[in-house]
Order: sequence, then structure tokens, then C-alpha cells
Amino acid sequence: MTDLGAVQGGAFAPDCLKGRTALITGGGSGIGFAIARALSDAGANVAISSRNLDRLKEAAQRLRNSGAQILAVAADVREPEAVNAAVSAAVERFGGLDILIANAAGNFVVPFSDMSFNAWRTVVDIDLNGTFHCAKAAYPHLKASTHGGRLIAISTLRALEGWPGCAHAAAAKAGVMSLIRSLAIEWGPDGILCNTIAPGPIDGTEGVKRLYEDTGEAAVLTANLPLGRLGRGEDVAQAVLYLCSDAASFVTGTDLVVDGGRQRGQRGAT
Ligand code: HXC
Ligand code: NAP
Repeated sequence: MTDLGAVQGGAFAPDCLKGRTALITGGGSGIGFAIARALSDAGANVAISSRNLDRLKEAAQRLRNSGAQILAVAADVREPEAVNAAVSAAVERFGGLDILIANAAGNFVVPFSDMSFNAWRTVVDIDLNGTFHCAKAAYPHLKASTHGGRLIAISTLRALEGWPGCAHAAAAKAGVMSLIRSLAIEWGPDGILCNTIAPGPIDGTEGVKRLYEDTGEAAVLTANLPLGRLGRGEDVAQAVLYLCSDAASFVTGTDLVVDGGRQRGQRGAT
């Protein structure tokens, strides 16, 4: 029987990422926090980074309560020097960097006709340029990883569908998906696996609040999802854990969709 190393009895071994270090941008809230919890529960050292250091420190304390090694470091992903410094801080603290999760994002609903130049620029700068800055800063460390580096960006299939009210985020996330595919090919020889995860709507997050709750669309959305519920942060985090684990050592350049079947259509829709 094949020994995949990471998988035990249908679940991931509790220490399957032991000895590895992950940096998660936007790791102090929402989906990023769920990812930080899953990776630290799997034994990884975890650095979480975003603009709001107070929130990061609080999140780090919650993660430490379960015994994990956590570093909180402030950085705006729009600033390459700040991203470099965050990566250096993680490497200094934990001795290397094996996993980079580009999760930080900004988004808000605004019709294109009302979208200011700066609104467009801001979202593209955070989502697309921010991912570029992270990839640049992490590359030499991911290449040096003895486990095989992992770069995972959190995207959304809405980027590829046409996304009314979020043209800026759609364009930026489509750019992220394209960037990751190119890196998968360029960095394959360096042993770095590059993938995206495309979550469906995830309960209790800022994204769902802004896009569905504040617009009055949450109830209809949920009722029509094939599985009849929104996703949980944990659903996305387990998919990230899979891509980071040895079980995914032949998976690169793909989009892993974790959306409860939303991409296949909605119940009740013709
Ligand atoms: C119209 C808006 C706006 C709004 C901001 N702007 N909010 N325009 N409607 N609701 C405009 C501003 O007027 C300004 O343009 C420009 O955008 C920059 O705004 P700032 O507030 O100066 O930017 P900043 O302080 O850098 O904050 C970035 C931000 C903010 C993106 C605007 O919302 C933020 O920090 N977001 C992080 C959290 C987040 O967005 N989480 C949700 C991710 S959900 P002018 O022209 O006035 O200067 C997601 C997808 C989910 O990514 C998918 C679900 C299925
Ligand atoms: P969230 O909690 O608002 O997460 C966004 C994170 O990014 C925050 O922690 C924020 O922290 C950080 N961030 C924002 N701008 C930043 C910047 N300039 N520099 C550094 N960090 C920055 O929202 P979420 O809904 O969990 O979204 C997380 C990811 O999942 C995003 O990539 C989003 O596009 C994606 N996604 C979400 C859903 C969903 O249903 N929620 C669905 C599909 C995809 P600070 O404010 O401290 O900087």
C-alpha cells in the first residue's frame, strides 16, 4: 500500500506539517485565521501578517492557547519592503519558510460607473500586486525548503464569471490565478508547488458580510446552494492543509474549488 505520509485513517496526521513554517497574509481574521489554526494544529510554525497589529496579536494569542508557535508581524502587502521584512522576520524566528499563503484581500461592492480610479487601484494593489510582492519575497526561501515549497493564493471563481459590483476584485483575482499558473511552471524545477483555492461563500466572514449580507442577498444565496449551507472557514483550511501536505506532492498549477457545488449552478435556478 502507498504511504502518503500525511494521511491517517481518513484524516490528516496531527503532526503532518511538523518542522515547516508558514506565513499567512491576512491571517488574523476570517478565512486566514482558520488556515492559521489548521496549519498550526498540524504542527507548523505559523507567522500571521496584516496591517492591524492589535488584531494580529489577539489572534496569535488565541492560536498560542493550543500550544502553537505563532509570530504576529505587521505589513501592508502593497509595500514590497514591508512584505520583505515580514518574510525575514518569519525566517529569523523559525529558521526558514516553507509555505506562503497569499490570503490578504480588499473588496467592496460598487458599480463600475461609480468606481473611482483610486478604488480600482486600491483593490488591484492589495489583491494582485500584494500577491506578487509575497511571491517575490518568499521565492528564495521556498526554493531552499527541504520539504518542497508551497505557494497558495486564495481566489474565487467569481473572478472568471463576470462579477457585477466587484469588477476590480474580479480582475485582480483573475490576475492572481494567472500569476500562480505561470509560477507553477517556472518554479516546478525548484520543487515549489503553486496552486490557488477558490472558496464559495464562507459563513461569518467579512467577504460574505460585504457581498451578501449588506446587499440583502444572503438568504437567497444560501437556500440555492447545492449543499444548502454556506461554507465554513474550516472547509477552506482543510483544503489548504491538503495542498501543503505530502499528500499533494504531485499537485501544482491548479485551482482547488471548495464551494459546496456553487460552480455547477444553483438549485431553483433555470
Ligand atoms: C466605493 C469605496 C468603498 C466603497 C472604499 N472605496 N470603499 N468606493 N464604495 N464601499 C474607495 C475610497 O473612496 C477610495 O477612493 C479608495 O476606495 C480607497 O479607499 P481607502 O479607504 O482609502 O482604502 P484603504 O484604507 O487602503 O482600505 C482598503 C479597502 C478596505 C479595500 C477600501 O475596505 C479594506 O481595508 N478592506 C480589507 C478587508 C476586506 O475588504 N475584506 C473583504 C474581502 S472579501 P477615493 O477615490 O475616494 O480616494 C473578498 C471576496 C469575497 O475579497 C468573495 C465572496 C464570495
Ligand atoms: P477578511 O477577514 O477581511 O480578510 C482579509 C484580510 O486581509 C484581513 O485579515 C486584513 O487584515 C488583510 N488585509 C487587507 N488589506 C491588507 C493589506 N493591504 N495588507 C495586508 N493585509 C491586508 O475577509 P475574508 O472574507 O476572510 O477573505 C479572506 C480571503 O478569502 C480573501 O482573499 C478573499 O478574497 C477570499 N475569499 C473569501 C470568500 C468569502 O466567502 N469570505 C470567498 C472567496 C474568496 P488587516 O485589516 O489587518 O490588514
